[in-house]
Amino acid sequence: MTWIRACSVDELDDGDALRLDTTPPIAVFNVEGEFLALADVCTHGQSSLADGYIEGGQVECAWHFAKFDLRTGAALTLPATAPLCTYQVRIDGSDVMVEAPDEN
Ligand code: FES
Repeated sequence: MTWIRACSVDELDDGDALRLDTTPPIAVFNVEGEFLALADVCTHGQSSLADGYIEGGQVECAWHFAKFDLRTGAALTLPATAPLCTYQVRIDGSDVMVEAPDEN
């Protein structure tokens, strides 16, 4: 695993997300000031979860509305049944750092 810089703390507001063009893509979420990183691609289809609807520590897929827990990656509602991979996040100064797979 390799630590990569996702953004600065100021660039991602509470309730927002951004997509990193890593392999595989990673989505970084700000949930009430807590930064969380998960696989960006929904486990049901190919939708980007960074484009989903974020509320209450969950993201709802924009395609078929499956919900995932942003802290655990768990699939909470159908049609998704498989969890999302989660990635470690640390704050380094003002930078949000994500531990991505090695090929990045
Ligand atoms: S692609 Fe996400 S619920 Fe279908």
